[in-house]
Amino acid sequence: MSISIAEVEESAASALSAIAGAKDLAELKVVKIEHLGDKSGLSKASQALGKVPAEEKASFGKIVGEAKAKVSAAFEARIKVLEADRDARVLIEERVDVTLPATNIPKGGLHPLTILTNEISDLFLGLGYRVAEGPELEAEWLNFDALNIPADHPARTMQDTFFIEPLDSRLVLRTHTSPVQIRTMLENKPPIYVICPGRTYRADELDATHTPVFSQVEGLVIDRGITMADLKGTLDYFAQSIFGPDVVTRLRPSFFPFTEPSAEVDFFFNGRWIEWGGCGMVNPKVLEVCGIDTKEFSGFAFGMGLERTLMVRHGITDMHDIVEGDIRFTRSFGLGIK
Ligand code: FA5
Ligand code: MG
Repeated sequence: MSISIAEVEESAASALSAIAGAKDLAELKVVKIEHLGDKSGLSKASQALGKVPAEEKASFGKIVGEAKAKVSAAFEARIKVLEADRDARVLIEERVDVTLPATNIPKGGLHPLTILTNEISDLFLGLGYRVAEGPELEAEWLNFDALNIPADHPARTMQDTFFIEPLDSRLVLRTHTSPVQIRTMLENKPPIYVICPGRTYRADELDATHTPVFSQVEGLVIDRGITMADLKGTLDYFAQSIFGPDVVTRLRPSFFPFTEPSAEVDFFFNGRWIEWGGCGMVNPKVLEVCGIDTKEFSGFAFGMGLERTLMVRHGITDMHDIVEGDIRFTRSFGLGIK
């Protein structure tokens, strides 16, 4: 016999004391390998059973079996205690105080101009219009010539233009959204119903009512039998939707090379007439440039400044507030991401 009863009892005793001494589950895992694993004294005793003389096999086997059962039971009991310890500790260490105030993560918000642009787009989409777009860096020909503003025309200096170097690139920062009219008419056959909100540029000083980078919204309708009455009706609906149901508009004779006749649109708000933008019947010369048959089709166009629209609607007295991007201004509109 290669192992004695005393050795079995000693292995069992040291296993029991190691189990009792394990302070946490990690330590108990190490104890298990050492005292219950294949190379432990008790496993060796089991393996030695084969070599025990037949007459001693029963009694030795019983001793080994009992020792193993005792150690296993102690192990199972200890693991339960240590698991309960761990669970109790986790409950305390990982406790979440649901009564703590929430962390306020600022969501950011849309700029009031963006909100207004979306509002106007929705309004016209509802009337069956499409939203058209064009580049801010525009061909001089589209910004001026195609709109019946020839090189020597005073209107070209009237809108103080940012020309792009090299000058023979013939590119400008668009001074208005009207070149999108030309792009739309060159790419589509009438009937045409579009609006085009977008950024525009002029060499104006930033002051209470001007900014060198501003926004306009252009409207263009080309169809059979379009008259100035359609223009007036559309502007009334537009103004009433933006400023309130009682608002009326008036047209004042004016001049734009690309409309004939042309008018300034004013609207009556808070007891006074306020200038809103330009409009008119699309000049037949412009329709011809775009290959539209002027005997069959006519149309109107309008162009409003969005900053001024916002200023009037919200009683903003200084353009600086709109362009400077101070979050306190935007927040005062109570606007979040919708
Ligand atoms: C035009 O730009 C024409 N394209 C409008 C038009 C379209 C007429 C279609 C006929 C048919 P005007 O230069 O007046 O017109 O500018 C229109 C509006 O842009 C002005 O009423 C004003 O609200 C706004 N605007 C012009 N310059 C500035 C600026 N520097 N800062 C802020 N808003 C401006
Ligand atoms: Mg004007």
